[in-house]
Amino acid sequence: MSLHRLSLLVLVVVVSLAHSVLAQYTPYDYRFDVNQKVKRQVGQPFIVRGAGSGAVQLRQEIRQLQQDTDQWTLYILGLSLLQFTDQTSPTSWYGLTGIHGIPHKTWGGVGPTPGNENTGYCTHSSVLFPTWHRPYLALYEQVLYQVVQQIATWWPEGAPRQRYQAAAANFRIPYWDWAASPPSGQSVLPLSVGGSQYVEADGPNGVQTISNPLFAYTFQPFNATAMVQYPWNIWESTVRSPTTNGTDAASNNALVAVNFDQNVDSLAQRLYIIFSNYNNYSTFSNNAWIPAANNGTYDSLEALHDTVHNLAGGGGQNQPNPQGGHMSYIPYSAFDPIFFLHHTMVDRIFAIWQALHPESWVMPEEATLASYTTTKGQTQDSTTPLTPFFAGVDGTFWTSDMVRDHTRLGYTYAELVGVPAGTSASQQGLSTLKRTINRLYGGSSPVNMFFQGLVRGVQGKGSKRGEDKAASLVESREDTGNTSALEPRSGAIFVGNQYREWIANIRVKQQALDGPFSIHLFMGKAPADPRNWQSAPNHVGTMGVFASDDDDSGMDMGHLTISGTIPLTSSLIRNMGAGGLSSLEPRDAENYLKRNLRAQIVTAKGRIFDPKGIDSFGMHIVSSVVRVPSTEDELPAWGPVVSHFDLK
Ligand SMILES: *[C@@H]1O[C@H](CO)[C@@H](O)[C@H](O)[C@H]1NC(C)=O
Ligand SMILES: *[C@@H]1O[C@H](CO)[C@@H](O)[C@H](O)[C@H]1NC(C)=O
Ligand SMILES: *[C@@H]1O[C@H](CO)[C@@H](O)[C@H](O)[C@H]1NC(C)=O
Ligand SMILES: *[C@@H]1O[C@H](CO)[C@@H](O)[C@H](O)[C@H]1NC(C)=O
Ligand SMILES: *[C@@H]1O[C@H](CO)[C@@H](O)[C@H](O)[C@H]1NC(C)=O
Repeated sequence: MSLHRLSLLVLVVVVSLAHSVLAQYTPYDYRFDVNQKVKRQVGQPFIVRGAGSGAVQLRQEIRQLQQDTDQWTLYILGLSLLQFTDQTSPTSWYGLTGIHGIPHKTWGGVGPTPGNENTGYCTHSSVLFPTWHRPYLALYEQVLYQVVQQIATWWPEGAPRQRYQAAAANFRIPYWDWAASPPSGQSVLPLSVGGSQYVEADGPNGVQTISNPLFAYTFQPFNATAMVQYPWNIWESTVRSPTTNGTDAASNNALVAVNFDQNVDSLAQRLYIIFSNYNNYSTFSNNAWIPAANNGTYDSLEALHDTVHNLAGGGGQNQPNPQGGHMSYIPYSAFDPIFFLHHTMVDRIFAIWQALHPESWVMPEEATLASYTTTKGQTQDSTTPLTPFFAGVDGTFWTSDMVRDHTRLGYTYAELVGVPAGTSASQQGLSTLKRTINRLYGGSSPVNMFFQGLVRGVQGKGSKRGEDKAASLVESREDTGNTSALEPRSGAIFVGNQYREWIANIRVKQQALDGPFSIHLFMGKAPADPRNWQSAPNHVGTMGVFASDDDDSGMDMGHLTISGTIPLTSSLIRNMGAGGLSSLEPRDAENYLKRNLRAQIVTAKGRIFDPKGIDSFGMHIVSSVVRVPSTEDELPAWGPVVSHFDLK
């Protein structure tokens, strides 16, 4: 971890400690009863349309939204208002987030199918994972948008009101890019989300200090019965990496920030590989292990998303009474305000992937898990209703086919402006998109080293690329690493314009342990004290298994084997020379990995497991030869996957 990130974390610790002493949760005081004034769509069915009335606006990265002071104020006030709305309202924070898992109850009049009363509506380990969350986000965006429009009218008439109404008009929810390098001096976890329990809001009634709606949600009012299990039934606010398992639990966002700062390169590599090497929706979409599938498709959008849930929930060994926070547990995760920021990023990845692979779509598959309206084993396809999200007054629901073009829901992402959804994109639009993917997520890939080496004349041969193009790529990535360290070794990494990418394929039963857990890989021995795992210099990456506390959640997950990956190449390259690894070729790398690669498992409750003791755990090392693209407008081309050996 670089020093600037470390110093930031110290700041976060100080800030959060200072505030936990004064825990007091306050909404913004508008000088009138807000709940009397908020107009709500009443009656059933509640139709999901997305925000606005037809215009397509950009969903921005959270740090970018924050640059727009007026929209940011509206966003914070809007979230705060939703969170302080009595939770019996279906469009309160609790009403909306409760659709996902807990509480197990009907939303919008869409009742459970028999036998599925004890679960939520979300679909996981299913081809509907990316598509179900799309109208879910659109519903949240629609409600928040409505609230934001109203708040804008509470500024004094004239110029102030006009100004906020103008800002409100194109408001859309932000995403949090947990795979991009943060701005210099910042953690991957934005300070706006983890820095302080309080925030200053300059609203219609002047500047006030209110509780930060991105830091935590406090139940309104807390209903222990609905929370089913300990410790959720004693925690009146959402927590991340909770300091205790008692009622006094506070979030330790400094530890969460370490989780992300230590894993951002690994997350970026997984994302870069998913964009460049996954072309089949069936495997891209979800984490269910398909034994017959190719060994090059162990990862998925959902498996990557699972890891982010676990990193955000925290837990493990880093607290005196280890216990993961809300984000680590499927049924409780949506209450934490970071959930929608994360899922908007997941939707953005999905939309970008669709632009790269417009031909691949939902193919029929059996549901591996139950949901409130899904029976395990039923066939799901692109016309399966995405409940409880009504599309029309006639009671029809949105389907995957209907959300295939996300712009129907009134939003898009900056990268996709030149790439119209649902049609085959123009060559130019795709080139720009691929250049963006290279710039944002290719920084830790050997592809980037190749470009940099080329600029310095180390590679020299084997490429027709213009030096000016390469130079522009490097320029935009100045802050991504110590390039001087790479030059002498690049000859051992590349053969012509190709190199070999190494990946650990991992599969395990989702409920193999006492709830969610994380698999950590190390090059060499793991530090003896598990509290030092995440920050160890030889830590290769983390794969999070997002699960339920036990298997009585109603989803019936006990049987399910999920799969994911941890990329190894960057770590191998770091170990070239000093560590005795002389090339990425199998004759060298196989032995090196057999001698050095170690897996360790820690559950969210802090129990340590040796993977050897877990029957369903399997780790298989694979590699592929990857061709570096000849311009920054292309993604790397992957050769066939080679299976090497099993490791436990
Ligand atoms: C609390 O939750 C339980 C279980 O979901 C529910 O039956 C009850 O009505 C809730 N109580 C209140 C006051 O909302
Ligand atoms: C996509 O993957 C699924 C699951 O492995 C497989 O059944 C299907 O044939 C694949 N589709 C294509 C076009 O390769
Ligand atoms: C895929 O990996 C498994 C080990 O997990 C191995 O037994 C199998 O032979 C590999 N499949 C192919 C097609 O190489
Ligand atoms: C809290 O965690 C500690 C340490 O793991 C454990 O001994 C204790 O039983 C837990 N408290 C409850 C109420 O479960
Ligand atoms: C970059 O790497 C080289 C070689 O490993 C090392 O000597 C140098 O100190 C590093 N520079 C920085 C700024 O970390």
